[in-house]
Amino acid sequence: MAENILVIGACGQLGTELVEELRKMYGNDQVIASDIFKGDDVVFRSGPFEILDILDKKRLGEVLYKYKPTQVYHLAALLSATAELKPKLGWTLNMDGLFNVLDAAVEFRIDKIYWPSSIAVFGPGTPANNTPQNCVMDPNTIYGISKLAGERYCEYYFRKHGVDVRSLRYPGLIGYKSDPGGGTTDYAVSIYHDALTTALHHCFLKADTELPMLYMPDALKATLDIMHAPAEKIKIRSSYNLAGMSFSPKEITAAIQKYIPAFDTLYMPDSRQEIADSWPNSIDDSEARKDWGWKPGYDLDSMTRDMLKNLAPRYGLALSL
Ligand code: SER
Repeated sequence: MAENILVIGACGQLGTELVEELRKMYGNDQVIASDIFKGDDVVFRSGPFEILDILDKKRLGEVLYKYKPTQVYHLAALLSATAELKPKLGWTLNMDGLFNVLDAAVEFRIDKIYWPSSIAVFGPGTPANNTPQNCVMDPNTIYGISKLAGERYCEYYFRKHGVDVRSLRYPGLIGYKSDPGGGTTDYAVSIYHDALTTALHHCFLKADTELPMLYMPDALKATLDIMHAPAEKIKIRSSYNLAGMSFSPKEITAAIQKYIPAFDTLYMPDSRQEIADSWPNSIDDSEARKDWGWKPGYDLDSMTRDMLKNLAPRYGLALSL
């Protein structure tokens, strides 16, 4: 049977790039992008788009009835920093949105669901280095609490209702095609833009705050790999630890300075420092490697080169890298 794929939250940082990849793979008409507003990225003109607020269960039913998707990628969420500013909305969007999708998976017999979790499920009591898959998890942000509860719900729906739901605990995602919004790890995206414009980055974290990160091509690969793996290989139905690289603001600054020596960072930590301090420094992703063959391709240096090379033309610059 032909696959029909619905992406919810398609205009976000991950959704924009995922829609592009899925359309290359499955064909433009087979991938339905949806969000609460229509993005202006060229990708959204290449195939079907539906306005969809995931909190509107009736509208979700209409979209599912119309397209009968075999797979749903549910990406709509408030990220860590925004959810701290709007805790009620963060909780409602992140939890009720997931419930609506999981219930719809049962009602409409959707073959596969993808839902992202995050390193934010970990907390101050978690071992910070090489954080294992299973350990103390005491998240203290609304975002992290909602993601941990969501993971438990995913596993519950798999066990009780047989929903084939798959999930990854993303580290900070870094890409040049679409802008992030509201995350604690987002400094690691804006720093590249600043390097190419003002040559000065004002960092909202301290110089030594090490966090796990992943370059977008690797994040897309991991997402598509876990969705394409045979069901019996997916042994973890809550969410898999996933790692690419780990670095601090000081280290990414040095990586950029190799190519742009005049670049520098000023450290002005704000409330996001506390969030970052509660998250791991590095992640043990051996379960993902063992179960479905995960292996990242980029490290800090190769990502930095690729980010600068791809962003430079946007600012009318030609870098020799
Ligand atoms: N990138 C996310 C955030 O910072 C973590 O999953 O909120």
